[in-house]
Amino acid sequence: MNVDLTTDFDRIIDRRGTQCQKWDMMEARCGVAGEDALAMWVADMDFRSPPEVREALRQAAEHGVFGYLGDEGPYREAIRWWMETRHAWRLDPDHVFTTHGLVNGVSLCLQALTEPGDGIVLMTPVYHAFSRAIRANAREVVEMPLTIGADGCHAMDIDAWESAMTGRERMLILCSPHNPGGRVWTRDELRQVADFCRRHDLILVSDEVHHDLVFAPHAHVPMPLAAPEVADRLVMLTAASKTFNIAGEHIGNVTIADPTLRARFAARMQASSISANFLGQGMVRAAYSPEGAEWVGELVGYLDGNRRLFDDGLDAIPGVRSMPLQSTYLAWVDFSGTGMTADEVNARVGRVARIAASPGPAFGKGGESWLRFNLGMPRVQIAEAVERLQHAFTDLQ
Ligand SMILES: Cc1ncc(COP(=O)(O)O)c(C=O)c1O
Repeated sequence: MNVDLTTDFDRIIDRRGTQCQKWDMMEARCGVAGEDALAMWVADMDFRSPPEVREALRQAAEHGVFGYLGDEGPYREAIRWWMETRHAWRLDPDHVFTTHGLVNGVSLCLQALTEPGDGIVLMTPVYHAFSRAIRANAREVVEMPLTIGADGCHAMDIDAWESAMTGRERMLILCSPHNPGGRVWTRDELRQVADFCRRHDLILVSDEVHHDLVFAPHAHVPMPLAAPEVADRLVMLTAASKTFNIAGEHIGNVTIADPTLRARFAARMQASSISANFLGQGMVRAAYSPEGAEWVGELVGYLDGNRRLFDDGLDAIPGVRSMPLQSTYLAWVDFSGTGMTADEVNARVGRVARIAASPGPAFGKGGESWLRFNLGMPRVQIAEAVERLQHAFTDLQ
């Protein structure tokens, strides 16, 4: 397969031996081994971060003193600027809490705003760390399955969810845009979720970490713009981590406009003694800039090319279907049409194609016959993955 190599995203960077999760834990966690194995599981990309981010770190390293961070003002201002210029969302910087990553933000929300035993609604299949955090905090996962629409993408079925409610639910965690499968929820769908939360008196936690990686013509709508009337029950989760491939900086931002919810969350933050990350905040400040925005534009264009190559290649395998991504680099692929068991599919992907993908069942109901593939890598490797997968299922051609 011929692939044009023209951008920094095409550079193959060997991450093995850097103690990274994606490549160095692939064998231990996914059972996929071999020099030429391809890591397409954990959701970080194999691209370098923008030059501005690397420069900020270089300058900090040169300064050489890495003490406690004090003034978070410039960091909050950078967030305010990014959300307003890119997402038309005007937030008050004083409403932002900075947590140790966003999953940490989810756990703190559970602890601060719900009680043990409460039901927490998830629209499944969804990012697996949500259910892990819910169970680890002794709350109950209440799964509301998504359906698949005529366009092959995820869709909501609010009527079915109504009848599945038990009265024990206290919170709904929304993933917007959705991981896996990349649905960019429309304003109307977001309003339906907000109305659902109001009807059932649920706190609405809207995880919008994937909001910058959206493919035209789709457009992300922040929940505070879609449904301002739920401001009194809304918690917003955002981060620069996915957008700029800096997840190792481990910073998440939890924005809460409602004073009562904010006070409860603040108390929990204090009880957990969470404080800010000096180097990480410098990286985010450099990323949330006009130069950073330009870089994201190029990244989205590159990912768009990756998803087209991957989808075309996989859809050519009889019985295999990749959900058309509207956002994210996390392809969601259905193998049910092959008629094979999950074990056989996993063996062909893991052992024949030597690709580590994320198993669908971890994402909850609806993920049984699926695998998630991370497309955040140089295009030659996507082309290689497609060829290997076509070969692994060659008897179906
Ligand atoms: C929806 C969603 N939220 C949160 C995260 C991870 O957040 P963090 O690494 O900041 O804990 C991910 C990672 O894939 C994600 O997809």
